[in-house]
Amino acid sequence: MIKVNNLTKAFGPKLAVNDVSFTVERGEILGFLGPNGSGKSTTMRMITGFFPPTKGKITVGGYDVLESPIQIKKLIGYLPENAPAYPDMTVRSFLTFSAQIRGLSGSKLRKAVDRVLELCFLDSVAHQSIDTLSKGYRHRTCFAQSIIHDPDVLILDEPTDGLDPNQKHEVRGIIRRMGEKKVIIFSTHILEEVEEVCSRAIIVDRGRIVADGIPEDLKLRAPGAGSVLLKLRDANVAEVKEKLQQIKTVDSVLVLEDEFTLSLRIKAKYPAPGGDLALSVSQAATDAGWRLEELHTESGRLDEVFRTITQSETAQEKAA
Ligand SMILES: Nc1ncnc2c1ncn2[C@@H]1O[C@H](COP(=O)(O)OP(=O)(O)O)[C@@H](O)[C@H]1O
Ligand SMILES: [Mg+2]
Repeated sequence: MIKVNNLTKAFGPKLAVNDVSFTVERGEILGFLGPNGSGKSTTMRMITGFFPPTKGKITVGGYDVLESPIQIKKLIGYLPENAPAYPDMTVRSFLTFSAQIRGLSGSKLRKAVDRVLELCFLDSVAHQSIDTLSKGYRHRTCFAQSIIHDPDVLILDEPTDGLDPNQKHEVRGIIRRMGEKKVIIFSTHILEEVEEVCSRAIIVDRGRIVADGIPEDLKLRAPGAGSVLLKLRDANVAEVKEKLQQIKTVDSVLVLEDEFTLSLRIKAKYPAPGGDLALSVSQAATDAGWRLEELHTESGRLDEVFRTITQSETAQEKAA
């Protein structure tokens, strides 16, 4: 649905986006993740045709963004950062106006407005003017505007920024529900959001893609991911270590604590999400009759991956 090839945007000497390529298919919810200034908004603006790339090519639904601006705008719903709205219009009149701009009229228009009012939980404030709304409602009004024409593609720039936890939760729910039938790209610097909502994540840093994958796989790149944490009562550390090291898939055994309980981190040779190592460790514990207090596979955290990747990039740059 979306194809981005060798996309570059320069502002003067600065490369805000530097040779970025990716594709997104229908049904994918892509989290576009990166620190402030990493080029997320700039990339999104180019996909929506807000401004042209310095280099590179973008197609959406087979249409070239530069050659078919009208088709592109029909296909895409765009929620910009700090989305604008008309403060003295009511929610319903603003959405009606937005639908008219999109070329809807008559019963189609009414249906479209009713649909987004319901989807974005705005029914109760439909007749209130926008400047009297709380931030969460105002935000969802802008969101409703961006999906009024039921677009196949949604580009959402930090759609949960500035919302309280309940409002964030609601918006994430809306995104997830809509993601079943559409293509969604949304940017965020909140990692838990990506884990909760996205089927795939791209991490960008200083204009470049530094990671691309499903959140589960990316998490395995966290230091310690796939390791097994084991806690035993009344255990002999030497004996336990020896036995664990006999397991074929064990890479190393680190003693974290050896006082009241013996606590160990067991690193796998090949970290995998299945938890095979935990099964082997559990078997060893049963065979040896150890008093087990805790056993679990560490799943890795996206924020650790994020930090590791962006830090190693900085280190490489410094070394160069
Ligand atoms: N219109 C512009 N003119 C000059 N520099 C810009 C412009 N827009 C963005 N930039 C710069 O490009 C970089 C990427 O910005 P942006 O895409 O907004 O990042 P993000 O959305 O990830 O926070 C930043 O360093 C920003 O200062
Ligand atoms: Mg931005």
